[in-house]
Amino acid sequence: MMKENFCAMLVLVAILFVGAVQFCSGGNTSFSCIEREREALLKLKLCFNDSSHMLSSWKGNDCCEWRGVGCDKSSSHVVSLQLRGSISDDQHKLYLIDNNVQEVVSSLLKLRYLEHLDLSGNDFNCSLIPPFFGLMKQLRHLNLSNMHFRGRIPSELGNLTRLRVLDLSNGALEVDDHIQWISHLSSLQQLDMSRVSLSNASSNLFQVLGMLPSLSWISLSNCHLNNSHLLFGSHPLNFTFFRNVQHFDLSLNSFQGPIPIFLRNITSLTFINLSRNEFGLMVDWLGDLKRLRYLDLSWNAFVGSIPSSLGTISTLRELYLSGNKLNETIPMWIGKLLAIRKLILYSNQLRGSVPNSIGQLSELEMIDFSKNLLSGSIPNTIGQLSKLEIMDLSENQLSGSIPNSMSGSHKLSHLNLSYNNLSGPIPIGNQLQTLKDPTIYVGNPQLCGAPLMKKCLDDVLPPTTT
Ligand SMILES: *[C@@H]1O[C@H](CO)[C@@H](O)[C@H](O)[C@H]1NC(C)=O
Ligand SMILES: *[C@@H]1O[C@H](CO)[C@@H](O)[C@H](O)[C@H]1NC(C)=O
Ligand SMILES: *[C@@H]1O[C@H](CO)[C@@H](O)[C@H](O)[C@H]1NC(C)=O
Ligand SMILES: *[C@@H]1O[C@H](CO)[C@@H](O)[C@H](O)[C@H]1NC(C)=O
Ligand SMILES: *[C@@H]1O[C@H](CO)[C@@H](O)[C@H](O)[C@H]1NC(C)=O
Ligand SMILES: *[C@@H]1O[C@H](CO)[C@@H](O)[C@H](O)[C@H]1NC(C)=O
Ligand SMILES: *[C@@H]1O[C@H](CO)[C@@H](O)[C@H](O)[C@H]1NC(C)=O
Ligand SMILES: *[C@@H]1O[C@H](CO)[C@@H](O)[C@H](O)[C@H]1NC(C)=O
Ligand SMILES: *[C@@H]1O[C@H](CO)[C@@H](O)[C@H](O)[C@H]1NC(C)=O
Ligand SMILES: *[C@@H]1O[C@H](CO)[C@@H](O)[C@H](O)[C@H]1NC(C)=O
Ligand SMILES: *[C@@H]1O[C@H](CO)[C@@H](O)[C@H](O)[C@H]1NC(C)=O
Ligand SMILES: *[C@@H]1O[C@H](CO)[C@@H](O)[C@H](O)[C@H]1NC(C)=O
Repeated sequence: MMKENFCAMLVLVAILFVGAVQFCSGGNTSFSCIEREREALLKLKLCFNDSSHMLSSWKGNDCCEWRGVGCDKSSSHVVSLQLRGSISDDQHKLYLIDNNVQEVVSSLLKLRYLEHLDLSGNDFNCSLIPPFFGLMKQLRHLNLSNMHFRGRIPSELGNLTRLRVLDLSNGALEVDDHIQWISHLSSLQQLDMSRVSLSNASSNLFQVLGMLPSLSWISLSNCHLNNSHLLFGSHPLNFTFFRNVQHFDLSLNSFQGPIPIFLRNITSLTFINLSRNEFGLMVDWLGDLKRLRYLDLSWNAFVGSIPSSLGTISTLRELYLSGNKLNETIPMWIGKLLAIRKLILYSNQLRGSVPNSIGQLSELEMIDFSKNLLSGSIPNTIGQLSKLEIMDLSENQLSGSIPNSMSGSHKLSHLNLSYNNLSGPIPIGNQLQTLKDPTIYVGNPQLCGAPLMKKCLDDVLPPTTT
């Protein structure tokens, strides 16, 4: 009898304890969602075909616990919605139903404290960006990239004056000649308009963007821009703006001629991408950009030599000059780029030999000099590059033997020396032993030894014994 009572009591205590724990933990959170905002989110959910189940957790009382929903800890208001769809996988995105983008925005407008909105990668089925987006004045971060929006970007977005980050990239969007609205985004730090068609933007586009005081990151890649956008009246833009910009991407446009002079005075720049334009004239002031780390000038129409002013940018980490018509030698001063990690010079007409000074670049991880006219032998100093992972010297006219020192490049995982005039035995030992693909040596009829089938003379004749 006593025993049974005791057991019952234990059970009771256990139930109370579990209940108390549940009350304390669950209790606090289950009331933290604001009902009006929960209803707005449920309305939003109805706008989408959620066959991917991204919103399957959107049920129950506490919307702050739903996937992608972020609430402020003290006020419980919904402050962030991160509903990123997958760009590459059609199964992992939300599909707008009935092109009802108005309903999406009217639901979002009920989230009056929303600061961070990321709907990128979902499929809005070629709808227009509705002007009401401009009513979400409290937004600081807006990502509408890769959403299959189309048409004109509404100037009402200029009302989002608190925005720090705006990503409108990769839609079928365009901007007309009234672009003054962008100048109202005075808090903007990061702007991605890649693949937005700016061909009809008026010629003061760069002035408008360049006046944004906090802008530090800008991409205008693939925007149908050309030299007409670099004019101020009839003369080139030559005054200082974009004062604090660090990252500037102008790749995949139709610019021609010299590298735009306005970049010269933006000394804050750390990243410039001018790849895939038709720039043809190197300038000697690039060395003025003393903080530059990444410089991509690949796939343009540059001829002649690599400008020596680049040798003074001691911060440079990655240099891309591939796909031009550079036809001089690789300069000796290349050995001064002591911070360089990637040196990409393939598909030019560079001649002469690979300078010895390359051995000084102790941070170098990747060399691609393939598809040039380089001759002479591979310098011994290459073996000093202890961080080298990738080296492609294929399709040149290099001769002589592969230096034995190369077996000391412990990190080398990709090597290609094919289609040169190299001769003699492939060095044995250490890292080179792991590179077993014979195609990295083909096209050098006088090379011998593993992994090639051709045996070296030394292998065939037994060593003479004394
Ligand atoms: C309940 O939430 C408030 C606000 O976030 C927090 O300060 C408090 O510590 C929580 N209490 C419990 C028991 O978790
Ligand atoms: C939702 O999308 C899936 C797959 O794309 C499709 O099979 C289904 O018919 C759609 N449902 C509705 C209600 O549109
Ligand atoms: C997408 O838009 C087209 C054309 O407006 C329409 O016919 C189609 O039903 C829409 N698809 C969805 C899922 O709403
Ligand atoms: C916007 O989202 C895409 C992924 O959908 C991401 O790659 C991109 O970095 C985001 N943009 C910003 C500015 O965070
Ligand atoms: C929002 O922007 C539009 C167009 O730029 C403008 O006409 C309107 O007055 C703005 N609304 C508010 C509330 O600022
Ligand atoms: C530059 O683009 C504009 C707008 O697309 C076009 O009218 C103009 O002819 C182009 N200019 C050049 C030099 O290609
Ligand atoms: C540019 O403007 C012309 C003339 O108004 C128009 O026909 C064309 O569709 C516009 N293109 C873009 C990409 O905005
Ligand atoms: C910009 O160029 C124009 C015309 O070439 C010239 O008159 C003006 O002085 C230049 N401004 C600066 C700041 O160099
Ligand atoms: C831009 O830099 C050049 C060279 O340093 C200098 O002569 C010129 O005055 C600068 N222009 C402005 C507008 O700061
Ligand atoms: C520069 O832009 C091109 C084209 O958009 C891109 O493929 C390349 O990766 C970019 N370079 C760097 C260093 O980011
Ligand atoms: C490089 O090409 C330019 C233009 O075709 C030519 O004038 C120059 O002589 C060439 N330089 C060398 C070293 O062949
Ligand atoms: C080596 O370079 C040659 C010629 O550029 C190329 O055809 C081959 O695929 C490359 N091999 C490897 C393993 O990268």
